[in-house]
Order: sequence, then structure tokens, then C-alpha cells
Amino acid sequence: MKLAIVGATGMVGRAFLTVLSERGFPIDELYLFASARSAGHGLVYNGNRYMVEALDEHSFDRGIDLALFAAGGDISLKYAPIAAAKGCVVVDNSSVWRMKDDVPLIVPEVNPDDIKRHKGIIANPNCSTIQAVVALWPLHRAYGIKRIVYSTYQAVAGAGMSGVRDLEDGLKGISPKKFPHPIAGNCLPHIDAFLENGYTKEEEKMINETRKIMHAPEIRITVTCVRVPVFFGHSEAVNVEFIKPYDITELKTLLQNSPGITVQDDLGANIYPMPINAAYKDDVYVGRIRRDFSVENGVNLWVVSDSVRKGAATNAVQIAELLTLNPKN
Ligand code: A2P
Repeated sequence: MKLAIVGATGMVGRAFLTVLSERGFPIDELYLFASARSAGHGLVYNGNRYMVEALDEHSFDRGIDLALFAAGGDISLKYAPIAAAKGCVVVDNSSVWRMKDDVPLIVPEVNPDDIKRHKGIIANPNCSTIQAVVALWPLHRAYGIKRIVYSTYQAVAGAGMSGVRDLEDGLKGISPKKFPHPIAGNCLPHIDAFLENGYTKEEEKMINETRKIMHAPEIRITVTCVRVPVFFGHSEAVNVEFIKPYDITELKTLLQNSPGITVQDDLGANIYPMPINAAYKDDVYVGRIRRDFSVENGVNLWVVSDSVRKGAATNAVQIAELLTLNPKN
């Protein structure tokens, strides 16, 4: 296995190295790419130091089998097809390929079989969408989801190194460079660019990607995405309306027994998911599970996960594992 990481010096790129090592992913040769600014810098993987190279059109000329991309949309748009044309399978963390018909959008707990349709590029979904669908998929199968209202509370790590820097700087009174307003002591109802219809691209991603991953174009979804002054761990209030009636105890048991989920819901002991506990972990934490009494078959969930781990690096490595465990994919 010759594996490349594109954007290796970034927030997600560095997490790729950690997650690949933790999971013992089989790598014979490792190549690390970033911008020319980082060429010659060293990064450590499994105790060995690897030199970062500047990405260019010839980077994939050495029989690289698999490339994990996390260098932003423009880089993915240009270089993923170049890599794929040379026989390298790309798992791409950007949003540019996600909604293309011939690009599978994979969350291994939900739609692993979609990977079989790939033509060289596989998309890793949006961080907020990944944690939501891990929690919603078992419920959709059991009760059929009619409508979802997402409200997110997203950590600055989701905006990369520069997002983290803006919060660190803001706590010292320094003006932001990445975000349009201070994030320290503030909430920004603005993640990614605004669209003509008044939503943001992040909100649009959650709507479209949820439907694509769950093969459920009929689900009605509305979203508000908010950046909050938290370093790691996205939180989401998820309001769901089902087609079928449900039993709340059975629903909790269903979540408890589903892959990738840890239920934290003990109100007497003040136990519920919090980003501070989810940081650097891979699970999706679900709590505050309670009936929505304002509709017939509604439930409210509080869903928390680390956007850099399950929301990006871990999900991408799990996709890579699907490929290597079943080479027919
Ligand atoms: P670099 O560190 O050299 O700028 P983050 O999302 O945390 O901001 O990380 C973005 C990643 O994308 C970094 O590894 C960054 O490398 C990389 N990157 C940015 N621009 C380019 C480029 N033109 N070519 C290759 N990698 C790039």
C-alpha cells in the first residue's frame, strides 16, 4: 500500500497520521503533500520522520494506491482527477465532489455498499452531517424519518488551523483573520458562504448530504449552522419527526446497540454529551433523548462528536479500510 496524504500539515491532515497509526492501517510507503510553503518540513508517523513535499501535477506519478485529500476544495477539484487518472483511489474530504452522481458519499455505519460504485473518487461527507446520520440511520430504518430540524453548535477546529488560531488569538484580544467577526465570547450564525436563498453552504450541505447518504430524498430538512467558541467537538440539537409511532425506551436501546454511537443520558447524574468529552474520540455521543410533545411522533436528540476525528479523519480512514478489507471495492 502506497498511501499519500494531501494537506498533511493541516488540521485534518495531521489527524490522518494519528488515526492511521492508531488503527494500524497497513502502509508500505507514505507520501506527504502540502503547499510549497511546507516543502521540506518533517512530520512524524509511527515514530519515523517523513518529509513534506510540495504538491504538483507529477506527485502521483509513482504508483500511489490511495490518497487522502484534506487541502480544501480548489486543490481537490484540480488534483483528485489527476490522481484518479493515474490509478490512485482518492478519498476526498472537501465538498467539491460530494454531490456528483458517480461519486459515492460514504459513512461506513450507514451506506458502506455505495463504495462499490466509485470511479476513482470517493467523498467524505461534511463533518456535521456525518455525526448526524450515524445517530439518525438506525432510527430512520426503524421508524421512517419524515422531517429533521438541525441546529448546530460547531467548533472552530472545523474551520482548520486558522479557525483554531482565531479563537486562541481572540482570547488574547487579537482580531480574527479567518472569521468575519470575533469568535471568542461570540456565536456566528455563518459557516461557509451565504447563498441567494439566505441559507449558508454549510446548511445546504447538511440537507443534501443527509438525503444522499441515507438514500432518502423525500426527507424534509431545515438547518441553522452556528460557529461557537469551542476548540474541538461539534454539538447538534436534532429534532426529528417519524412516520411511525415509537417507544422512547426502545428508541434509546436502538441507539445504544448501533455502531459508532455511545449514549450518554443520565439526567440525575448530569450526564449528557459535551464537546469537552468528545474531543479526540471517534464515537458519536447521543443524549437528552426526549419526546417532542408538539408533534405526533417527534423526538429531540443532542448529538456531539469530534469534527476532526469522526467528522473527517476517522471517517476517511474507515472508508480506506472498506477498500482494503474488500479489494473488489
Ligand atoms: P500548508 O500548511 O503548506 O499551507 P487547514 O484546513 O488546517 O487550514 O489545512 C489546509 C491544508 O491544505 C494544509 O496542509 C495546507 O498546506 C494545504 N494546502 C493549502 N494550499 C495548498 C496548495 N496550494 N497545495 C497543496 N496543499 C495546500
